[in-house]
Amino acid sequence: MIRTILLGPPGAGKGTQAARIIEKYHIPHISTGDIFRENIKQGTELGKKAQEYMSRGELVPDDLVIEIACDRLLKDDCKEGFILDGFPRTVYQAEKLDEFLSENGQKLDCVINLEVGEDILMKRLTGRRVCKKCGASFHVVNMPPKVDGICDVCGAELIQRADDNEETARNRIDVYNAQTKPLVDYYKKAGVIADIDGAQGLEPTFAAIVAALEKEV
Ligand code: AP5
Ligand code: MG
Repeated sequence: MIRTILLGPPGAGKGTQAARIIEKYHIPHISTGDIFRENIKQGTELGKKAQEYMSRGELVPDDLVIEIACDRLLKDDCKEGFILDGFPRTVYQAEKLDEFLSENGQKLDCVINLEVGEDILMKRLTGRRVCKKCGASFHVVNMPPKVDGICDVCGAELIQRADDNEETARNRIDVYNAQTKPLVDYYKKAGVIADIDGAQGLEPTFAAIVAALEKEV
């Protein structure tokens, strides 16, 4: 049983590492960013509201995010654990998550804090390419696809995320520093944080995450 949060700035590798973690532990990966992007694609009301904030690199309002995350956590597949990616992102969201977990007789095992410097983050964000169809993620330098512009997994076209241009990416990092970074202290006080050097390659980062999770399993 693993109940964990992947905490870290934009481009730290949360999504990349979550994909590896679910292969190993078979628990659901809950990314609030992915949920919003799916809603934008489908043209839902939620998607329209979220897009306003996401296109500027700002946070979607707390109440909207909390409702979506808690609804998802109530689904049956989360009974045996979960990985939260990109939620919580403010102290208020973290407090509401704590309330939700205690009401449901659950607790977090571990919060993985991926640490990466800002120069590397900017290179990762601006070089990221994602599959239009299946969402698989690549990087033009660090993780290039076999064929330029084409997804290795499903053969569809690779595109750049709308918020991965230089200006929006910079704002997302600033927003992280102002509103999300305080969560590192919040979870440090709760005694559940594991600091991981996310600037290493994919494999050593994954090995360090597994070592932190196994301590709790
Ligand atoms: P979200 O989708 O969560 O984006 P983010 O936090 O900005 O994080 P990213 O997805 O950009 O980065 P990542 O850490 O997943 O990196 P990745 O693994 O892809 O949120 C988007 C927006 O939605 C927010 O701005 C906000 O508006 C809204 N939102 C979402 N949740 C919210 C919430 N709770 N509250 C309010 N608003 C919310 O890696 C990046 C690149 O680096 C890839 O190309 C990858 O190949 C490469 N890479 C990864 N690891 C390595 C490595 N070790 N070495 C070399 N390259 C690597
Ligand atoms: Mg991500």
